[in-house]
Amino acid sequence: MKKFVKILSMTVAAAIMAVTFTACADSSSSSDSKSGGSIKFGTNAEFPPFEYVVSKGVIGEFDGIDMAIAKQIGEDNNKEAKIENMEFDSLLVALDNGKIDAAIAGMTVTDERKEKVDFSEPYYNAKQVMIVKEDSNIAKASDMSDKKIVVIQGYTGETCVKKLGFSYQSFKKGTEAIMELVNGKCDVVVIDSATADKYVKDNKGLKVVEDNKEFENEEYAIAVKKGNKELLDEINKSIKKMKEDGKINELAAKYADATNS
Ligand code: ARG
Repeated sequence: MKKFVKILSMTVAAAIMAVTFTACADSSSSSDSKSGGSIKFGTNAEFPPFEYVVSKGVIGEFDGIDMAIAKQIGEDNNKEAKIENMEFDSLLVALDNGKIDAAIAGMTVTDERKEKVDFSEPYYNAKQVMIVKEDSNIAKASDMSDKKIVVIQGYTGETCVKKLGFSYQSFKKGTEAIMELVNGKCDVVVIDSATADKYVKDNKGLKVVEDNKEFENEEYAIAVKKGNKELLDEINKSIKKMKEDGKINELAAKYADATNS
């Protein structure tokens, strides 16, 4: 009897150990597939200093403030940050149909977009500005009324000019718009402030004109598919940390000075 109890208890112990081992293996493999996965970020890499293509960037050939932020979000969550480059206009659709998990593209939070996607905590403050030739007499938004205005298709700059009621031409890329201006084919390009500063730095003979009365403050945030709370929480935690420890300011300063975009 005694022997039988001993064998029984040994069997039970072995069984418990086996269960424990499987449980361990299970939990590690499930957390592996969860945290060892990837986050597919969609962007439009035509927007220095936030995202642009170089030969060697922070993620593959992609570099810029947003790309460094995406990389950090990946690292904070034990996931690989992947970049999918597409047209700016396609980002919200790509989120909706699951082609990408998140959109990071210097994207301004707007009511219209909020109806389609969920936004993270904002991570950057911006506003629209006007880029003109150095000798231009445009000094405020209303001065554009009889001028040839160029915007980028689907950007908030387009919304602002529409709201002013002025006619305009739209281009797909910021660089195309700037070329129009440089070549004297238009008088003004309306675009986000940090990007404007970058273009003015890289092209001779241009200047930035602000109109803080007409152009309201904008906030950039990361978009996820409506209801994807799990990913949004991960992103928000990471953004909060990067705002607190100064990483975002650091990146903004670093990429504003970078000359390779
Ligand atoms: N902030 C503007 C917007 O949300 C322009 C963003 C353009 N971003 C880009 N990656 N091309 O419409």
